[in-house]
Amino acid sequence: MADTIFKYDSISIEYEGKVAVSNVSFSLDKGRILALVGESGSGKTTIIKSVMGILNPDATIKNGHIVFENENLLEKNEKQLRAIRGKKIGMIFQDSLGAFCPIRTIGQQIIEAVKAHYKKDKNEIKQEALALFDKLNLNDPEKLWKSYPFELSGGMNQRVGIAIAMLLNPTLLLADEPTSAIDENAKKMVLAELKRIRDSYGTSIIIVTHDMTVVSEIADEVIVLKDGKVVEQGIKNQVLENPKAEYTRQLIEAVPTSRSEEWKLSLV
Ligand SMILES: Nc1ncnc2c1ncn2[C@@H]1O[C@H](COP(=O)(O)OP(=O)(O)O)[C@@H](O)[C@H]1O
Ligand SMILES: [Mg+2]
Repeated sequence: MADTIFKYDSISIEYEGKVAVSNVSFSLDKGRILALVGESGSGKTTIIKSVMGILNPDATIKNGHIVFENENLLEKNEKQLRAIRGKKIGMIFQDSLGAFCPIRTIGQQIIEAVKAHYKKDKNEIKQEALALFDKLNLNDPEKLWKSYPFELSGGMNQRVGIAIAMLLNPTLLLADEPTSAIDENAKKMVLAELKRIRDSYGTSIIIVTHDMTVVSEIADEVIVLKDGKVVEQGIKNQVLENPKAEYTRQLIEAVPTSRSEEWKLSLV
């Protein structure tokens, strides 16, 4: 029997009357990786934020249920959500720099994030973090630990955000465009690391991307969104090899030729 840990059920979301997500449903089993794909403005970030309960105040969830481990997250209060956020449901933000406190070092913020949920001592947390920095292709982990977010590049902040999410070992990890600000080499490392945590801990992952090579590399299942609506939904190989929607075909064709060969190989 498949172990379904998450269900996004018939959700519609509006920003002051303007529909951003229209009757979207999907479910996710333990250890599966789902890619949410679609061009800018299609509603991907809105979906991710709704799961975390961090939608902007001008957003309204019109109907539906968001079920995590058999409980409707939409019925939880802020205090209950705070206990789930980070520890049970982790998030890698599209804008990592904006998610960090500007006046405290990376190390201080990591210690605080982990200590909010786990009884671990500072040294233990630091050692785990430095090992992850290394795996994510971040140079000079000791120096990084003492840095402030503004001293780092966008791609470095993004990978630090990934490291923090991973240190909390969530059941469900939401990653909003985790590879958009980083180069090809770092992207490979990040995708390999996401796969490794899925394989080691059975973490379920929802990854937002508009990059079909990322989909082919990492996803088990795919949802294609356009203007807040699902235009295609299915198992990765089925969607990439035999897309039903014209829009999906366009996204696939938009992959640059140099990378599409590599991409086709990874489908085999
Ligand atoms: N805070 C907001 N207020 C009003 N409209 C918003 C807000 N955030 C997003 N939107 C609108 O909702 C739609 C979906 O946006 P978003 O979820 O950010 O898409 P994506 O992540 O796929 O680029 C877009 O039309 C966007 O302009
Ligand atoms: Mg977005």
